[in-house]
Amino acid sequence: MALIGVIGAGVMGVGVAQNLAQTGHDVVLVDKDEQILKEALETIARNARMSRLMGGPALDADEILSRITTSVGVGGAAEAEVVIENVTENWEVKRAVHEELDKVCGPDTVFVVNTSAIPITKMASITQRPDKVVGVHFMNPVPAKPACELIPGFHTSTETVERTRDLLKAMGKKAIDVKDACGFVSNRVLMLTVNEAAYLVHEGVATAESVDEVFRSCFGHPMGPLETADLIGVDTILYSVEVLYEHYADSKYRPCPLLKQMTDAGLHGRKSGRGFYTYN
Ligand code: NAI
Repeated sequence: MALIGVIGAGVMGVGVAQNLAQTGHDVVLVDKDEQILKEALETIARNARMSRLMGGPALDADEILSRITTSVGVGGAAEAEVVIENVTENWEVKRAVHEELDKVCGPDTVFVVNTSAIPITKMASITQRPDKVVGVHFMNPVPAKPACELIPGFHTSTETVERTRDLLKAMGKKAIDVKDACGFVSNRVLMLTVNEAAYLVHEGVATAESVDEVFRSCFGHPMGPLETADLIGVDTILYSVEVLYEHYADSKYRPCPLLKQMTDAGLHGRKSGRGFYTYN
């Protein structure tokens, strides 16, 4: 089975690496320091052991971990046939990672960009292989979600799109074709909703609990927007809304100051133990 590089071992990288390994792929998981990678492997082992209890399939944690190696720095992904990049939603961070990947990977390696909002054509433009760069907007938690958005950039070849669609199918995912517009389909809508929900709390119109209850009890949503923000990461929400605001120059995307304050204060949601709610 071909080696897949998973770049970034945060919320999404952990999910992508687990999903790949549990569907029989060999993975090299990359981040910028050893401690993050150690914690990522622990999270994958815990998630695999809990899978059945949480309504998922029974998984063999040891078998999954046996398919994952780790590397500090992208050099470890040099032999990968495909790299799936899941680093922080920040243009400068992603740009630096893609420039480096472009130097270390072979000319045929496909670059999959997992982003909430950054246009794929812009990301591809900083590589020497824009035909081999494609966007996949995975959903969180990755192993549990049956579909994702598949986004070709302006120069992405049909071969790259179809190779990626095949890989997604092998991961158990349906690819939904979407054009390359900042935020794609899901986050043009979701980020607006979450940002507006944060404004309701910021303005004292309702508590986070009440906002979420309206969505759960009145609309029948399984989760409210602020619970969703905690799942995604409050910092990731802020960065995504900032990308949308800058790109469209439209005041409807003005980032809520509460999201900024929470991000600065380290209230990043589930991953930091506290966001709109507190977690054990
Ligand atoms: P995160 O903040 O949990 O993880 C980002 C990871 O990237 C961190 O572990 C960080 O150490 C690593 N990183 C940063 N710079 C690096 C570098 N130079 N080399 C290697 N690793 C580096 O972020 P998260 O939530 O995993 O998001 C990743 C991407 O996926 C973002 O672009 C985000 O917009 C997108 N996304 C997030 C979703 C979510 O629900 N959190 C859903 C779909 C897409």
